[in-house]
Amino acid sequence: MLLAHLSDPHVLDLRGVPTHRMLFNKRVTGWVNLKLHRGHKHRPAVFRALLDDVRAQSPDHVAITGDVTNLSLEPEFEAFRAMLDGLAMSPSDVSVVPGNHDVYTEGARRAGRFASYLGAYGTSDLDVGTDHAGGRFPFVRLRGAVALVGLCSAVPRAPLVASGHLGDAQRAALRGVLAHPEVASRVPVVLAHHPVRDPHGALASYLRGLDDRDAFAEDLAQGRDVLALHGHWHRRGHERIASAGAVIHRLGATSASLVHDDADRMAGYNLYEIDADRGLVSARARVWNPSTERFDDAALPDGASQRG
Ligand SMILES: [Fe+2]
Ligand SMILES: [Fe+2]
Repeated sequence: MLLAHLSDPHVLDLRGVPTHRMLFNKRVTGWVNLKLHRGHKHRPAVFRALLDDVRAQSPDHVAITGDVTNLSLEPEFEAFRAMLDGLAMSPSDVSVVPGNHDVYTEGARRAGRFASYLGAYGTSDLDVGTDHAGGRFPFVRLRGAVALVGLCSAVPRAPLVASGHLGDAQRAALRGVLAHPEVASRVPVVLAHHPVRDPHGALASYLRGLDDRDAFAEDLAQGRDVLALHGHWHRRGHERIASAGAVIHRLGATSASLVHDDADRMAGYNLYEIDADRGLVSARARVWNPSTERFDDAALPDGASQRG
């Protein structure tokens, strides 16, 4: 089976947003941060071209690991969903989990905004979910050789804090999912916006990492290989983490819209070939080439020593 993995398109559409929704809350910080640091680098046209390229590769399934919006606003979710039409794929063949920018405020969480716009991309074949950040997680989608397990690591945080949290209830459900016969007979592919490992310093991890990542890593150590897909770092990479006689493949996708000087961060997506018996057979990337305005094949860098 061919699985395409993209992440962090950060669709921004402020049209029609009343000014009062931008004032007096965390969105002001987010908006200013965006304009100062990266607003000019996330290009919707690159994301549209990427979706065309994904479609041309004819994957069996597409996994999207969050930060589809910037400020969790309705027009952004609408714009993203409209862009997804470019894939010309059924929502049952596309799985989306939220990033911290998709549950950006308490209001967005309370309204269950991510689920209301993108619930069709997170339906579950098994009734195993618990309530988390306005949705039901994990969701499980049994597709041929793989079992896609969608998690929500996103929770509203204070300004300038982008850390994630899975929580005891969601993690207990995850352990149950991994032991379920329908999942145990397939290759588990776990989707979470925040990575399972964080090599950064204590402060950076506190501000941006998954606060229960060590417990999450233990949950994934079930004595057989598992793929752990994530975004958040805006950097592609593949790290093999040895655990309990098996391997956790940490697979990071960069931002799908980011134009960046660093080759490992330039816009693109990943492609994984997965076999029922052999697990992950190959992992490679497609990377945006600004001169040709096309995507080229590239190896997925060894992510073991990389900073996010
Ligand atoms: Fe992001
Ligand atoms: Fe993020």
